[in-house]
Amino acid sequence: MTARTCLSIILAAGLGTRMKSSLPKVMHEIGGLPLVGHVLKALAAAGSERIAVVTGPEASALEAFVYKQAPDARCYVQQDRLGTAHAALAARPALDIDADDVLVLFGDTPLVTPETIAMVRQVLADGADLAVLGFETGKPFGYGRLLTEDGRLVAIREEKDASEEERRVTFCNSGIMGFAGRNALSLLEAVGNDNAKGEYYLTDAVEIANARGLKVVAVSGTETETQGINTRAQLASCEADFQERMRQGAMDKGCTLLAPQTVFFSHDTHLEADVLIEQNVVFGPGVKVAGGARIRAFSHLEGAVVGPGSVVGPYARLRPGAVLEADTRIGNFVEVKNATFGAGAKANHLSYVGDASVGSGSNIGAGTITCNYDGFLKHRTEIGAGSFVGSNSTLVAPVKLGDGVFVAAGSVITDDVLPDALAFGRSRQSVKEGQAAALRRRLKAEKDRKS
Ligand code: UD1
Ligand code: CA
Repeated sequence: MTARTCLSIILAAGLGTRMKSSLPKVMHEIGGLPLVGHVLKALAAAGSERIAVVTGPEASALEAFVYKQAPDARCYVQQDRLGTAHAALAARPALDIDADDVLVLFGDTPLVTPETIAMVRQVLADGADLAVLGFETGKPFGYGRLLTEDGRLVAIREEKDASEEERRVTFCNSGIMGFAGRNALSLLEAVGNDNAKGEYYLTDAVEIANARGLKVVAVSGTETETQGINTRAQLASCEADFQERMRQGAMDKGCTLLAPQTVFFSHDTHLEADVLIEQNVVFGPGVKVAGGARIRAFSHLEGAVVGPGSVVGPYARLRPGAVLEADTRIGNFVEVKNATFGAGAKANHLSYVGDASVGSGSNIGAGTITCNYDGFLKHRTEIGAGSFVGSNSTLVAPVKLGDGVFVAAGSVITDDVLPDALAFGRSRQSVKEGQAAALRRRLKAEKDRKS
């Protein structure tokens, strides 16, 4: 059997009026990825080889995002927003090329899984002409209702057009539909706009297909994955469901989450088995953590790689470009940006290490600061292996410290330090015997005279 070809059309032209935002609705993010990005990701995993995205006019940021994530996708502009069927037809050049399956998905329905998309396609492969993904919900308000008779899908009724009785139906339209390619264009073209909103409803394709004697099937998905986002509150509850999915995924993979509800993931967080995550940890985009690492409480990581056996936090901040090799230690109130730590290197307390490399086994003392920025340019600090930087040292970049260097506490290091050298970047201590007592006597006399 040859694989069936598939065109997927993602509708993303809506203004998102109910979001009250200047951003196109589908550019709002879940897990740090725009809503439409989630749909693109699911389609890529489900193996749809052609993807069309329908955008509104002047949506250059949305288009740029789509082309960045899915270079093979094509964007089409829907000039006037006349409804979901009208939007699907904006991708007419894509529809003109034959495909066995034509899927229509909504850019505001981000949590649909590749498995569910495959399920809809399977129904088409089994001979359906039109497949609609529905779901049962206790809160049907705002959704189109799936009207069935003896298990057949007869019609979809939009909230505004539904009768009292139809509104009591709890089987709802997710918006995801599969057309047998041979019928797709003619069904979409047959949709009219005689309804409460005066829009061309994609959902009307169901009644039209039935009138033509075609086979129309409803498929059930879960409410979590089919929820659509129209409001900020729905965005927040979708984010919560997404986080739940990520936490569950991490635990299924063999990670320990001491308090799962307090750990927040990015859509691309990559954890190996046997990572342990303590309470209140936030992952921004682009983090990879290797097995045996421990992320301690109240840490914030983004764009960082944590090597096996490393311990980060509590209260650590890893920013983009932080790369920690095996068994490193990044402790409380340490910020690392664009800096590598070799195996076993440590910065345990109160430091800023930016635009730097720290060799394996080196120890960065409390309060060490790499001065990487002069107000105009960034400069690098390079520290060799097995070095010791004493507490409260200031490393003024560009500067190089060789292997085995020892920097005395409180130093300001402005010049390179050769391997195995001892560097003092501060004035020598002087001790004046008995002079503290003399000073105290003098100060007391002055105070007595004044009172
Ligand atoms: C739609 C469905 C409803 C379903 C619900 C699921 C229709 C008529 N209604 O309602 O049955 O239960 O989704 O979430 O299909 N869009 C365009 N151009 C347009 C109009 C919409 O591209 O002219 C896009 C939007 O960007 C959005 C999607 O289509 O991604 C759905 O539009 P929206 O207005 O949110 O429809 P709902 O009222 O939620
Ligand atoms: Ca919607």
